[in-house]
Amino acid sequence: MASSSTKSMIALFVFSLLLISNASFAEPPSYSSGDLPRLCSFDDLYKPEGYQVFRHIDTCNVGLLKLCKLNQIYQFGDSISDVGNLIRETPATPLARASIGSLLTDYYGFILDNLIRGKPVGAATPPPYARLPYGSDFPKGPTGRASNGNLLTDFYAMDAGLPLLPPFKKYGADFSHGVNFAVAGSTALPWEALAALNISSPITNSSLSVQLDWMSAYFHSLPNNMNQRSAGLENALFMMGPFGGSDYHHALFQGKSIHEIETTMVPKIVDAIMSAVRRVVSMGAKKVVLPGLYTIFRLPVYRTAFYGNFNMWEVNNDLAIHHNAQLIKAINKFNQEAENPNAVVVYGDYFSAYEALENYSVDAGMDLNVCCGSGGTEDWRYNLDLTRMCGTDGVSGCAEPKKHVSWDGENLTEEAYRIMAKYMVYRIFTGLQCPYSY
Ligand SMILES: *[C@@H]1O[C@H](CO)[C@@H](O)[C@H](O)[C@H]1NC(C)=O
Ligand SMILES: *[C@@H]1O[C@H](CO)[C@@H](O)[C@H](O)[C@H]1NC(C)=O
Ligand SMILES: *[C@@H]1O[C@H](CO)[C@@H](O)[C@H](O)[C@H]1NC(C)=O
Ligand SMILES: *[C@@H]1O[C@H](CO)[C@@H](O)[C@H](O)[C@H]1NC(C)=O
Repeated sequence: MASSSTKSMIALFVFSLLLISNASFAEPPSYSSGDLPRLCSFDDLYKPEGYQVFRHIDTCNVGLLKLCKLNQIYQFGDSISDVGNLIRETPATPLARASIGSLLTDYYGFILDNLIRGKPVGAATPPPYARLPYGSDFPKGPTGRASNGNLLTDFYAMDAGLPLLPPFKKYGADFSHGVNFAVAGSTALPWEALAALNISSPITNSSLSVQLDWMSAYFHSLPNNMNQRSAGLENALFMMGPFGGSDYHHALFQGKSIHEIETTMVPKIVDAIMSAVRRVVSMGAKKVVLPGLYTIFRLPVYRTAFYGNFNMWEVNNDLAIHHNAQLIKAINKFNQEAENPNAVVVYGDYFSAYEALENYSVDAGMDLNVCCGSGGTEDWRYNLDLTRMCGTDGVSGCAEPKKHVSWDGENLTEEAYRIMAKYMVYRIFTGLQCPYSY
């Protein structure tokens, strides 16, 4: 499945992570330690005696982040992490669907001309992820999460033994265990910087720096003085992303070439992410995780949109790999320079986490068609019709979301995020060098 260059990139990631973490968990401790969590590194999966993790997926890596004794989590990001900010920021979006459609039409008119152009836009409605079937696996229905249920960020909070992080825009919420600042569609670059590259930001202007301004304003609103605040962040986890996916998405759908993106955007985006890291560290952050990107062009919405065209999936795979490699380089530099020896910045290997999910989904017999879609019967559609996507009237979720990887073509199901989280909590735990003891 993975090409040898992908494999060597993965080896490089693992190697980089070991460098960052001083390899103190190269050998997972034995499982005989009483009530300690069962560690599943996923690394021995493909050994002949493997399949340990698959068989034990429900019991492995449970409560691992609890050992890190985190008291707060601050999450930044886009639709992968948004738990209800965009729907509060933009309660009605007449153009939510249509803007995606028209961007596709502008650039890929040859594919979608007859499908989307000329369709009525309709009256103002709440964004699709504020309506069922989004959130169908929550007792109270939709929350603004772009899935049927919980996201990665929720699984991290649960694993750390903390309440789920409330969205920053939820007035009067209890932020004592952290805040989620992520906004679906958010970009790493501010909208002005994107505009200077002739790229518009159609969903939100609440980019990474805006989210940091919110955090700063929030910290300053607290009664404590600055020193006490910093001390309070000693055991806080800062999840800075993933970021960049929306920038690349907008650029690609607005006609930028991969070459242009790699040369002009990637360095700017990595710089923006690293200055965000410096900013949170200057505010007192000690534990920072910087997730990389997974290969969005392996997701159904891109496979369907670009079906029959140039080999967009491979190309985007390269873009994610390129972005991640630059990010890892910047993280290593940051840690080596030890500008802040008390702060540790760990690379979050979402690329491998997604690959682990793909591997798992094959072995577990999960369905690759989207759960919430209305596609035709052709294999390449993955049950996805770009004119009638999840959230459109009459498009319902599937009977068993647990059996699907993809929720709506781009965003994953709760089950998929659960599996990725199983992989990631182990990597975060080892990266932060949390003690394997209570
Ligand atoms: C994924 O979710 C975001 C909102 O959270 C939405 O903007 C995007 O359209 C979704 N993707 C698809 C293919 O529906
Ligand atoms: C910006 O995009 C518009 C239309 O997409 C194009 O006409 C214009 O030449 C572009 N400008 C630059 C500086 O690339
Ligand atoms: C972002 O800000 C610009 C300038 O104020 C505005 O024209 C644009 O509509 C905003 N975009 C969104 C999605 O709010
Ligand atoms: C996924 O499976 C391939 C073999 O098919 C293996 O080489 C790769 O390491 C696996 N990836 C992960 C993250 O487990």
